[in-house]
Amino acid sequence: IKKIGVLTSGGDAPGMNAAIRGVVRAALTEGLEVFGIHDGYLGLYEDRMEKLDRYSVSDMINRGGTFLGSARFPEFRDENVRAKAIENLKKHGIDALVVIGGDGSYMGAKRLTEEGFPCIGLPGTIDNDVAGTDYTIGYFTALETVVEAIDRLRDTSSSHQRISIVEVMGRYCGELTLSAAIAGGCEFIVLPEIEFSRDDLVEEIKAGIAKGKKHAIVAITEHVCDVDELARYIEQETCRETRATVLGHIQRGGSPVAYDRILASRMGAYSIELLLQGYGGRCVGIQNEKLVHHDIIDAIENMKRTFHLDWLETAKKLY
Ligand code: F6P
Repeated sequence: IKKIGVLTSGGDAPGMNAAIRGVVRAALTEGLEVFGIHDGYLGLYEDRMEKLDRYSVSDMINRGGTFLGSARFPEFRDENVRAKAIENLKKHGIDALVVIGGDGSYMGAKRLTEEGFPCIGLPGTIDNDVAGTDYTIGYFTALETVVEAIDRLRDTSSSHQRISIVEVMGRYCGELTLSAAIAGGCEFIVLPEIEFSRDDLVEEIKAGIAKGKKHAIVAITEHVCDVDELARYIEQETCRETRATVLGHIQRGGSPVAYDRILASRMGAYSIELLLQGYGGRCVGIQNEKLVHHDIIDAIENMKRTFHLDWLETAKKLY
């Protein structure tokens, strides 16, 4: 291979810039040319790309977001749209593509690979919900952000003897909520992986109050229920003031923590190693502290992430 493309796709995540930098610098070191594609698969379809040099990624390692831009582009499911994307890549003489993103982005990379264009996927999402890797780029930064927010909520919740509900992102994965709840010392944890009963939660909160708890924090993953409605219900049933806080997109921003920068840099460089070894259609992961790669089709179709039930059980002992 001589020329590669790189794009970021789906929800942005802190460390995506560090990953692009890793890809670009490692590729240039190996004598490859690199094209940066703007706004993910949308920009690929619209043929918006530019040649990158080592200075294109200067001062990027510490910057949140993605300087290439990202987009959600469901139209990429259409094979005619993908055919145009492949045509654009070939027009520029690009032989392989590095895709940095989450599940949806991997699906696009899988399809392009199946249609004859080799892609390497790097896991970039705060959700930590990608198969074939223990951690995704951006997760540790988001975790710090959520824990800091919980600490702040704890101050005010304690001053007012209130119950605070904090809604955490993660799409349909409770990993970020669970880790943040343990680190933030949350009293109650509600996750999409575990069936939710608001009455059971209320009973647990009441039991806590009976034991003398003056305030409590409930961490809950988005999409499980309407948290404002839940707050009203808890207040009505426990006679304790209850407030819900939706952290929202705050969780996606900010300068990446050191671990995310290191992970992104290593994975970026590794993607180039794989391409030079002739691999295509792979996704990169870190498992048991080692960089690994899997067949991207197999990862999407067959690999399931294991839920940390033992973490939840531990957390419950600490309530
Ligand atoms: O995948 C990252 C993520 O932030 C999820 O946690 C969340 O459900 C989703 O993206 C929000 O997407 P959008 O920014 O498109 O509203």
